[in-house]
Amino acid sequence: MKKLIAVILSLALVMALGTTALAQDTLTVAFSQIGQESDWRTANTDDVCKAIQDAGWNLVYDDAQQKQENQVKALRNFITQGVDYIVFTAIVTTGWDEVLQEVKDSEIPLVLIDRFPQTSFADDSWFTAFFGGDFVEEGARAARWIVNYYKSLGRGDEEVNIVRLEGTTTSDPQVGRSKGFDDVIVNYPNFKIVASQTGNFTSAEGQAVMESFLKSVDKIDVLWAENDQMALGAIEAIKAAGLQPGKDIIIVGCDGVKLAFEAIVNGEMNCTVECTPLMGSRVVEVITGLEAGETFPKIVHPVEYVYDANGGIAYTDDGTALTRKAADYIAERLY
Ligand code: AHR
Repeated sequence: MKKLIAVILSLALVMALGTTALAQDTLTVAFSQIGQESDWRTANTDDVCKAIQDAGWNLVYDDAQQKQENQVKALRNFITQGVDYIVFTAIVTTGWDEVLQEVKDSEIPLVLIDRFPQTSFADDSWFTAFFGGDFVEEGARAARWIVNYYKSLGRGDEEVNIVRLEGTTTSDPQVGRSKGFDDVIVNYPNFKIVASQTGNFTSAEGQAVMESFLKSVDKIDVLWAENDQMALGAIEAIKAAGLQPGKDIIIVGCDGVKLAFEAIVNGEMNCTVECTPLMGSRVVEVITGLEAGETFPKIVHPVEYVYDANGGIAYTDDGTALTRKAADYIAERLY
């Protein structure tokens, strides 16, 4: 009898230890998000958090409320907690060397998504993988669309005044999209940027800055907004000024959110350059791959498109990719 009790007790002990080991085996993935400034950002947060949880991992989430110092604190907390992976998108490009050196020293793999931080490290061993849009190409696509759209109307030689709503100053998408746009438009001297100011990627600031453009700039032909959220705010300002958005002023945005698709279909916006917020499946793929000891390309950009009212406008450098008609894709757009 004593023997039987001992066997039962040791079995119970083995089972208890097994359960503990299993709980410890569950990965803990921490995600430092920048805030919730746009529909794009909300979709990005939801997608990444859901993918981590659906993978059966513990999620530690931090929303930095648009403050770099909050992101620095979050990264340090993740290190203290001893999480297994850190997923990170940097609100601005600079000022990360010290904390990213601490992440590197902790040997916690760093998975970058969306925005790439600039560092002065000698090599790229400080991060494990990056997944996100090619912002320079997105800006270039917007500029090519504008030029080719005017050409398609037989108006490619007209003097065209462009106003630009920039994203958050010194953020990776602002820097990249502005550069990509400038690099292309400089080749077409009749297309001129006549005003350019930040709208911080938000609808409210996009609206306010557009109101001031409308007061200070004599002739506005095109608005290039570095995200759809600002374009949507600007549409309100244009309507309030008694003008027809999409007709009196051609409007090009970036992201490809559902509200932009609807605005294109309603004729109030003309084009959106896609930048997908859906990054969760790549995060899971990378972490699963690392756990299995697999190797994979370090930097990956998603395949993205450009959408407008009728389709058929060239937007790549070689002129081979043509815009998709927004109405044909609106139903499948979930964010
Ligand atoms: O970093 C991606 C950009 O940030 C998206 O274009 C914008 O909508 C978001 O706020």
